[in-house]
Amino acid sequence: MRYIRVFDTTLRDGEQSPGASMNVEEKIHVARQLARLNIDVIEAGFPVASPGDFEAVRRIAEEIKGVTVAGLARAKDLDIERAAEAIRPAESGRIHTFLATSDIHLRYKLRMSREEVLDAAVRAVKKAREFTDDVEFSAEDATRSDWDFLCRVAEEVIKAGAGTVNIPDTVGYTIPQEFGELIEYLMNRVPNIDKAVISVHCHNDLGLAVANSLTAVLKGAGQVECTVNGIGERAGNAAMEEVVMALKTRPKFFNADTRIVTEEIYKTSRLVSKITGMVVQPNKAIVGANAFAHEAGIHQDGVLKERSTYEIMKPETVGIPQSKLVLGKHSGRHAFKERLKELGYELGEDELNKAFERFKRLCDQKKYIFDEDIETLVSEEVKKVPEVYSLLELRVSSGTSVKPTATVRLKVRGEVVERSEEGDGPVDATYRAIAGITETKSHLEKFEIKGITGGTDALGEVMVSLEEEGHTVRGYGSDTDIIVAAAKAYVNALNKLEGRKREPEKGI
Ligand code: KIV
Ligand code: ZN
Repeated sequence: MRYIRVFDTTLRDGEQSPGASMNVEEKIHVARQLARLNIDVIEAGFPVASPGDFEAVRRIAEEIKGVTVAGLARAKDLDIERAAEAIRPAESGRIHTFLATSDIHLRYKLRMSREEVLDAAVRAVKKAREFTDDVEFSAEDATRSDWDFLCRVAEEVIKAGAGTVNIPDTVGYTIPQEFGELIEYLMNRVPNIDKAVISVHCHNDLGLAVANSLTAVLKGAGQVECTVNGIGERAGNAAMEEVVMALKTRPKFFNADTRIVTEEIYKTSRLVSKITGMVVQPNKAIVGANAFAHEAGIHQDGVLKERSTYEIMKPETVGIPQSKLVLGKHSGRHAFKERLKELGYELGEDELNKAFERFKRLCDQKKYIFDEDIETLVSEEVKKVPEVYSLLELRVSSGTSVKPTATVRLKVRGEVVERSEEGDGPVDATYRAIAGITETKSHLEKFEIKGITGGTDALGEVMVSLEEEGHTVRGYGSDTDIIVAAAKAYVNALNKLEGRKREPEKGI
């Protein structure tokens, strides 16, 4: 069985999804969960891009052990030096440097000749090797590059000391057969290819990122770059959970596997979705709400008789909880902490106290508490952003014969402000009141609502996208009262917009 390395770029390429930016604390929580998944390499960010990115890579390098931490760098000295400084505390640190190799990028973006690109790539790898033995080189837009030129670049960067050569399908253009042929071509034509791991990094513009990655594995790629839930630039990257489970489910076909602890997949998916505000579509493979739901009578009958009739994977294998009743009103702090541990959350004392308070409040509102409720409640604690605005109180009146009205009390930079507004519905009235208090110029792009568990007392989850001056942020809120959940999501997004104003823009 060949061992395929999983390089996770949720915190770098994943964060490039519009509105999915994460603050440093959020990135550390994701990184901890990626370490539990047993990811081989965590690409923690692009250190030169902003002080926030630098800090995230540095903190992850300091705090997350047992995994390689990578920092991205263009083929420029300053980028490489910043990446080197950020990964320095890591147990095992990698510099990932990249330069485009396609003629279209050379002509229009870089304005460089092929010889200049070859030279710059070699220089960058040598420079990176001054700081670490673990250097990866990516030939950006590889799939639209001349194959022979790509071979020359691969050969020279390997000679210069790159231990991993990444072949990105940057624009999601290739198709499985063609990509397989390209990997085979490299394998056969690059004389020193056995000195490096060939990696692939596929984008999903044609919906083929996972298929392309798997075809590359069949042709000899030893590392796959991917993101949790497939988030990423434009249509996203290859979805980690899909690549991993394809290899796991078809071992004879691929004769290859990863070291991922698959039972951690579902929890990771939920955490990333909550933190980024990127909702997972119900029919998403592996982690979607319907991925293991059998609706047709014939299928249900088959599964009841023998699961393998219609199930190729077991939900337990990816850690999908069975909605067990876990805790209730009389459960103490110790039991709560133990249950959290079983669910994979180890909170600091302060976070734990706050989560326990919320749990107790939830017990007063809701008779049955499921694992999903606890996860929701905890991940709200985990993903807190610094609060310029906090929701103190919300009162609404609405119904068939009254004009919906909301009164909102917010703490704004330490001062309490109250405002009442009417609206087209209770959510609209609430949002008008919050917008009035905060004087926000943002525009609500998206509003999504869903129930976490069944029943009318279920926790409701609201995700919103707010746009201001070309930037989009996502906010998240949960509560048994959906209007309160909506208010929390709006306030959370407004706090993120405030956070953006404090954090200098990414320079790239
Ligand atoms: O898509 C891409 O080409 C990238 C590189 C930086 C690897 O993200
Ligand atoms: Zn990419």
